[in-house]
Amino acid sequence: MSVFTKKSDLTARLDRLKNPKTKIGFVPTMGALHEGHLSLLKESLKNNGITVVSIFVNPTQFNNAEDLEKYPRTLDRDVEKINNLSKDILIYAPSVEDIYEGNTVSAAFDYDGLELQMEGAHRPGHFDGVGTIVKKLFEIVQPANAYFGEKDFQQLQIVKKMVEKHQLPVTIHGCPIHREPNGLAMSSRNERLSAEARKEAALIYRILKNARKKFEKQSAKEVTEFVTREFQKHPNFQLEYFEIADEATLLPCIRKSKTKKYRGFVAVFINNVRLIDNISLN
Ligand code: PAJ
Repeated sequence: MSVFTKKSDLTARLDRLKNPKTKIGFVPTMGALHEGHLSLLKESLKNNGITVVSIFVNPTQFNNAEDLEKYPRTLDRDVEKINNLSKDILIYAPSVEDIYEGNTVSAAFDYDGLELQMEGAHRPGHFDGVGTIVKKLFEIVQPANAYFGEKDFQQLQIVKKMVEKHQLPVTIHGCPIHREPNGLAMSSRNERLSAEARKEAALIYRILKNARKKFEKQSAKEVTEFVTREFQKHPNFQLEYFEIADEATLLPCIRKSKTKKYRGFVAVFINNVRLIDNISLN
């Protein structure tokens, strides 16, 4: 098992390991690893001769200084978890300097409007930061396959769009959301919740499942009103948005179409911690 803090060391090792038949699978993360992250790594291990994981809390995608400062950093524990999965995984855990070389400014990306919805609307500049770091990481690692979670469904669609627009030679794979036994979507940010809040946060998935049931018979507007009312019953939760959107365009569902796939997306604060989740509705 190897931890690289410098891109030059990582690429030197990759150059030695690579041959025309071995594919590189890549899982970018910001660390504080949980079963959701590990599921992406398992998928990569199954399908590639070499697996690389990056652990890097990317400053350019945070639009809130406190969120960046409080983001959990647990490198030793992360390395141990990766090690328990496989000793062959290469870990890239760079400094800001190694990645950004003194220029921590995001490039501007056009994702055909995907960036204007939901997370993009509520976190200005977020997806420019994500595009900037993911593109840099792809250039360093040069993976054939890269794995992203549906937990961040909008990010997954945006990365696919970036790859298509920039014609990058990598296939993006979406992987299902891993949840705690109580239904709470696993997230590094859950570490910032009290034990009590972590239990209460199971409400998010319960409401999403009820929304899915209601969407069978009701309009997007009615289901949105239902979700808003449900969160209002719980003053510990501050709903930022709930939106039913077309999976492909991420545009809000005004009138249901039988040929489209819809998802319900939610962002909600509990104890000042911002959590996101989503559910397939049809
Ligand atoms: P991070 O939040 O660490 O997530 C890394 C990857 O793990 C993402 O693709 C995310 O969708 C996936 N993931 C997180 N929780 C998951 C869960 N419960 N089930 C399944 N997959 C899950 O997303 C980022 O980091 C960053 O934006 C990054 C892409 C690394 C760029 O900095």
